[in-house]
Amino acid sequence: MQANQPILHDFSLASLNTFRIPARARHYLRVLGAAELDAVRRDPALASLPRLVLGGGSNMLFTRDFDGIVLHMAGQGKEVLGEQDGRILVRAQAGENWHAFVQWTLAQGLGGMENLSLIPGTVGAAPIQNVGAYGTETKDVFHSLTAYDMTSGETRTLDAAACRFAYRDSLFKHPEGRELVVLDVTFALPAAWQPNLRYAELARAVEEAGFTSPTPQDIGRTVEAIRRRKLPDPAEIGNAGSFFKNPVVSADHCARLLAQYPELVHHTQADGSEKLAAGWLIDQCGWKGRAMGAAGVYPKQALVLVNLGGAQGEDVVRLARAIQADVAAKYGVELEPEPVFV
Ligand code: EPU
Repeated sequence: MQANQPILHDFSLASLNTFRIPARARHYLRVLGAAELDAVRRDPALASLPRLVLGGGSNMLFTRDFDGIVLHMAGQGKEVLGEQDGRILVRAQAGENWHAFVQWTLAQGLGGMENLSLIPGTVGAAPIQNVGAYGTETKDVFHSLTAYDMTSGETRTLDAAACRFAYRDSLFKHPEGRELVVLDVTFALPAAWQPNLRYAELARAVEEAGFTSPTPQDIGRTVEAIRRRKLPDPAEIGNAGSFFKNPVVSADHCARLLAQYPELVHHTQADGSEKLAAGWLIDQCGWKGRAMGAAGVYPKQALVLVNLGGAQGEDVVRLARAIQADVAAKYGVELEPEPVFV
């Protein structure tokens, strides 16, 4: 196999990360498919370099230049594969834009992904952190994916169980999955669609919009409207969506907090633990709308850190550490960042 994409050097990543941090990569390769990955694996000089697989750069914070090779997943293509066991299988290449793909499924008359409208990033990145919003996670519509193994050179198919999906987590975020590069993802969408309105804010917005029997498109548009209202558009303000995961605490810890803070936002999990709203905790610590240098907390959603213009990665890290310290001091809760720090 011959790679047809050239390796570029001292490459600016500023337009390839939604935080718009001006980091650079020592080497950069646009990856259209397995051929480029195979070429990297077979070249000892390239194979020994630190690797960073990049999709839409929407869940990444560059804290320094990357002294290795960036593999920018750019493969394009999407198709309806057909029906299997009451579900329609749809496949997209890793480099497809996520929202454009969701829109395309809706335009084919296929429901199931509408709650995941307007999420920045690419198809290949969605399974990595099991992207989720408004009551749906990637795992709920996932069928399987194809991944290239950078150690063996094999192309493997992984089903949902093999991907070990959890809240904002999967196999690919752990050492056992680090050698796997996602090439394409197959989704299974219900042939008989039902709206998923379990997320109270979405159910309310659908009702307020006057939809009595909403279509997948109606719900997709409602999700877009909610997101536009609360979240900054990365094309205008650099950000990586939620900067922290919603922390999970024990029932005891939650009960102690509730005794002191009765308005605490919490959701009981299947195992009895409690998921808290990080945005609420940060907001209560008075961080909403505040800034430290060129890094700030978005005024409409305290869970989102933004680049106010000219921020370096360290500016964002400093702000994040200050927020973590305040939340830990007030609530005894450790906030874990959601984006990957590079
Ligand atoms: N809240 C506040 N103040 C704030 C922000 C939130 O009081 O500044 C409260 C809200 O009123 C609400 C609760 O916190 O009671 C939860 O807020 P919201 O519904 O906005 O959702 P979230 O928990 O902040 C999560 C995801 C988002 C996803 C939304 C909708 C995580 C880390 N974040 O946010 O995902 O869009 O739910 O499903 O799970 C992302 O991962 O990048 C992302 C945007």
